[in-house]
Amino acid sequence: MDKNPFEYAPAPESRALVSIKGQYGLFINGAWVEPKTKDKFSTINPANEEVLSKISQASDSDVDRAVKAARAAYLKTWSKMPGKERGKYLFRIARIMQERAREFAVLETLDNGKPIRESRDVDVPLAAAHFFYHAGWADKLDHAGLGINPKPHGVVGQIIPWNFPLLMLAWKIAPALATGNTVVLKPAETTSLTALLFAEVCQQAELPAGVVNIITGDGATGAALVNHPGIDKIAFTGSTEVGKLIARSIAISGKSATLELGGKAANIVFEDAPIDEAVEGIVNGIFFNQGHVCCAGSRLIVQENIYDDLLVKLKRRMSLIRVGDPLDKNTDLGAINSAAQLAKIKELSASGDTEGAFRWSPDCQLPSKGFWFAPTIFTGVTQSHRIAREEIFGPVLSVLTFRTPQEAIEKANNTPYGLSAGIWSEKGSRILWASKALKAGVIWANTFNKFDPASPFGGYKESGWGREGGRHGLAPYLKGAK
Ligand code: NAI
Ligand code: MG
Repeated sequence: MDKNPFEYAPAPESRALVSIKGQYGLFINGAWVEPKTKDKFSTINPANEEVLSKISQASDSDVDRAVKAARAAYLKTWSKMPGKERGKYLFRIARIMQERAREFAVLETLDNGKPIRESRDVDVPLAAAHFFYHAGWADKLDHAGLGINPKPHGVVGQIIPWNFPLLMLAWKIAPALATGNTVVLKPAETTSLTALLFAEVCQQAELPAGVVNIITGDGATGAALVNHPGIDKIAFTGSTEVGKLIARSIAISGKSATLELGGKAANIVFEDAPIDEAVEGIVNGIFFNQGHVCCAGSRLIVQENIYDDLLVKLKRRMSLIRVGDPLDKNTDLGAINSAAQLAKIKELSASGDTEGAFRWSPDCQLPSKGFWFAPTIFTGVTQSHRIAREEIFGPVLSVLTFRTPQEAIEKANNTPYGLSAGIWSEKGSRILWASKALKAGVIWANTFNKFDPASPFGGYKESGWGREGGRHGLAPYLKGAK
């Protein structure tokens, strides 16, 4: 008999919703300009390796143009505008993003490889929500508990990663504008298209020229932005390695920085947890966005007496994960974002095999073109294994066990990171005890990967500096505020 008699028919979202230009320039001072060197690179759809467009590689002199445009806009317009007027622009941007939501979702899925179900239901609505939320703060900064009449830094350089391209743009640009700063933002080199579409939204909203500048390029462009003397503050999300480089290069420069870096979150399941819900939370924790999530629940830590039962249920649930065409509305797990990221996931997974852990994946057919990795779990993982310590940033879960609650906490905290953690238990007192003991910036109880613009997000230790979102996330954009 056919293994799955209830096969779904394909349900692809229409690609015709977006028009992608053959090539893009840089968005500087409210207009499209060509990069000084004329250098371009391709951006591809990771699901089938089709070239989508050519993107500009901004050089040092382009970075300089963008920073000067942002400075001029700051001095002439944005710093003089009352908060309630700035707020109107943020509201306008939020509404246009909602109006163009389907276009943004399809474009994000094409360029990034994430399932349309996620770009449509998570990335784009949350990005708009960040603008709505911060629009509300623009005229209330005096009442945020961050001092009387708090002042912006000036020009902010923002560098974002490829895992949530539009959402990370919103996390960066919305608070910066609400607090009165102007911005030069660089998207990641594999996922620039939604940032370039956002530039069109800025034009449509008639945002004053130079308040938001979008420059594309690779790490060299990012480094030029960090090192430009006209930048007052850096906001970065990405790898811990680059975060450390940035921290070093801005030392004693007087620039302030927020760094949102990696993670290796523990998702702890106690014996009294609601098992079926926990299984859903484990799957959401590690397989959401192909596991390309800094706060992913990549270390499952299960109490030993429920381990067998939980593993059976987890494997059964994993067999139902639909891997394939990201534009299909039924797809759960899309493409890995790049060949480089796929190579990293394969290398770390291979270390799991050689170090003695046991690999399991459900039977699933991976497309022949593009970058793919089956949902995977490793059991028999010990704390010294690389797959228990290093961020894999892919659909790979490492499973560890514990006997006593104290042991669970010790294992969970045994990491150089401290971004997030999950607790599954029916007992409120245990949840409160464990959340106090865990060294992580965000702790979810009986849920995972839930985000809201009103809730601050950020980490301890090598997961970075500062918080983004909520009232706490305003402070890093205001001088002297803590
Ligand atoms: P990355 O840290 O190199 O890239 C993030 C952003 O920083 C991109 O826009 C990139 O162009 C820029 N960048 C690179 N080098 C720079 C430099 N020297 N100065 C300024 N900006 C620079 O991350 P990558 O190479 O794409 O991924 C490597 C690993 O990093 C992943 O496997 C994952 O483990 C981790 N990562 C974590 C993220 C998070 O959200 N915590 C996001 C992306 C990657
Ligand atoms: Mg890199």
